[in-house]
Amino acid sequence: MTHHDRLLIIDFGSQVTQLIARRLRELSVYCEIHPFQNVTDAFIAEFKPKAVIFSGGPSSVFADGAPMPPKSVFELGVPILGICYGQQVMMHLLGGKVERGHGTAEFGRTYVTPKDTQLALLEGWFDDDREQVWMSHGDHVSEIAPGFDVYGTSPNAPFAITADTQRKFFAVQFHPEVHHTPNGKKLYENFVRLSGFTGDWTMGAYRDDAIAKIREQVGDKKVICGLSGGVDSSVAAVLIHEAIGDQLTCVFVDHGLLRLNEADEVVSMFRDHYNIPLIHADETDLFLNALEGVSDPETKRKTIGKLFIDVFQKYANEIDGAEFLAQGTLYPDVIESVSFSGGPSVTIKSHHNVGGLPEKMGLKLVEPLRELFKDEVRALGRELGLPDHFIGRHPFPGPGLAIRCPGEITRDKLEILRRADAVYIDQIRKHGLYDDIWQAFVAILPVRTVGVMGDDRTYDYACALRAVTSVDGMTADYFPFSHEFLGETATRIINEVQGINRVTYDITSKPPGTIEWE
Ligand code: XMP
Repeated sequence: MTHHDRLLIIDFGSQVTQLIARRLRELSVYCEIHPFQNVTDAFIAEFKPKAVIFSGGPSSVFADGAPMPPKSVFELGVPILGICYGQQVMMHLLGGKVERGHGTAEFGRTYVTPKDTQLALLEGWFDDDREQVWMSHGDHVSEIAPGFDVYGTSPNAPFAITADTQRKFFAVQFHPEVHHTPNGKKLYENFVRLSGFTGDWTMGAYRDDAIAKIREQVGDKKVICGLSGGVDSSVAAVLIHEAIGDQLTCVFVDHGLLRLNEADEVVSMFRDHYNIPLIHADETDLFLNALEGVSDPETKRKTIGKLFIDVFQKYANEIDGAEFLAQGTLYPDVIESVSFSGGPSVTIKSHHNVGGLPEKMGLKLVEPLRELFKDEVRALGRELGLPDHFIGRHPFPGPGLAIRCPGEITRDKLEILRRADAVYIDQIRKHGLYDDIWQAFVAILPVRTVGVMGDDRTYDYACALRAVTSVDGMTADYFPFSHEFLGETATRIINEVQGINRVTYDITSKPPGTIEWE
């Protein structure tokens, strides 16, 4: 358990609950999201929150079994902020009234105007007489609970902002955590200040805490870490190494489906630069032989996944006396989602490279990034001295280039793909676009087309460039490169990469497409 001041977010199933946590973490406040079902009296007593936030949610307080917090939360004597459904819950439980929509529903952008600005929560608000906010509610509060006063109204929500200043209970009908409430962060800033948070959640503090915890958990035992070369497992490895030094051994399974020079970079960074004991399991032949003749995407993934586990296990068994397996699990993978909201990140990571291994090998888990969001992992990586260009790398899927090579995989195709991808990424970096893009790569297509080069006719592969913007990989849009950029890149690839004579740009969004080609 962390020693920081803690804020508890009770999740009632809103799609944007994670954004509340993001806003708070940006303010150096430690918070955790827990689904309402888990928040019992005993849980609250143990958690000891310094403040509580009720998230929004899709339910109606009138529904059978409507999500509710335990009443004891109101007796803790700590500030509470209710958002949207959380506001209705508060009014409903504290003696106000909520009514069904009937013409008063509000969705999307609206404006809140002040009724009274003398409220600590509203400091820095209403400088322009009104604030743009994002609403999304069917039911609405028709009578506020005793002790509450109104501080802001919107056209369809006469009780858009209410507060009981005695008890420090605040309730807003809109969502301050979304970008469409441009000044929303200010409300969170005010809320945590009036709750007494000091902003003690810094990466430096986290790193020291995490190191102490790893030492305590592991003692003098050995830890194995599966290194993929990605940001999460790399940061986990460096952190654990700082904590326990050579008690850590990393196993880097090289399936031969990595990008140009990637394996060398990983090995030289970890083994040579960080002096971390590293087993480089170069099993290219094993993987590529097993993939020969396989063109079905699911069969490819399964073949790679199964071999990966076998290989990892084989090398890990060579490490005498290992009792722990380190994983770069992140907070979004851990948050238990309220059943009706679904957990966004869970699906993305469903293919975890070492999934199922800890049980199979009888190893205990070390997961030092469990409390962090992706951008916090990057901040921690910086704190640990990992180079910026490494930390900012685009995500790369476990099955690697196999899913960027539709149809049958051959060594020739992989080599062409690697070189085309390197030129493309070089172009993106040179034009200063890398950090504006969530993910960019080349897919080599299973078609050959006719071209002319000089006086010769060519018959080579076509490739597709892919570049998308995204927040979490769940939805994505294609990146709007300029025609000049695309033209220059196509020319470079065709000139510099033998084997490709046609370049296309994939402008499919997700949905209906996926980011990867398979
Ligand atoms: P899709 O193609 O489903 O990808 O739109 C969404 C994000 O997930 C990554 N991805 C994977 N990551 N193992 C991984 O570790 C996988 O099997 C896998 N498949 C897709 C993909 O690169 C994108 O960032």
